[in-house]
Amino acid sequence: MILTRLRAETRTRHDAVEARLGFLDRPITSDSYRELLRQFWGFYEPVEARIATATDWPALEFDFNGRRKTPLLERDLATAGVGREALDKCHCPALPPLTDVPQALGCLYVLEGATLGGQVITRHLRGQPGGPYPTAFFASYGENVGPMWKAFGAFLTEYTAGHGGDDRIVASACATFDTLGAWLAAGEGRP
Ligand code: HEM
Repeated sequence: MILTRLRAETRTRHDAVEARLGFLDRPITSDSYRELLRQFWGFYEPVEARIATATDWPALEFDFNGRRKTPLLERDLATAGVGREALDKCHCPALPPLTDVPQALGCLYVLEGATLGGQVITRHLRGQPGGPYPTAFFASYGENVGPMWKAFGAFLTEYTAGHGGDDRIVASACATFDTLGAWLAAGEGRP
């Protein structure tokens, strides 16, 4: 079962990224939050652009466009005073390979799973001093997070039942966590 494998084989990477963010134990300021959104944008924007062209999603009956998070990051960044033109130099240079469906699905597992943690983060942000912090990105699908996650899992399960590719999906999920983790680490300490 692909989801069981993904969860088990990425757990240590997930926990490392979560610990690196240190969201729940470090104080947040509007500067650090803006920088974090900028870093996420630098990863999500090029990654989502690559996923979009990895295959013909409508032919697979998968609404990738409806799951894009870059517009939500841009909305939060605009609220935080960062315009789109200020973001162009923020692209992550080392991305996971995203040239076929299994690679795209492994990466999407990470981006979609992040919406689960996003619910915890959104609740946490509401209680933080210095807010309100814009949370379009972390809140993502709002009350539809559960159904959207279930639907993604069902798509993944059905796809692998018909096409296989499990090992490549898991490898891509691991590569996504690794590249994101390295990118977040590289940004630490930036003003
Ligand atoms: C402080 C940061 C984070 C916290 C507190 C957090 C917390 C959580 C929680 C509570 C879940 C649900 C676990 C469950 O229902 O069994 C989850 C799942 C997940 N999170 Fe995170 N998360 C964080 C950051 C991230 C990030 C940055 C990513 C990726 C970009 C990510 C990717 C995932 C994935 C893929 C899952 C699904 C695991 C599965 O059930 O297969 N998380 N996270």
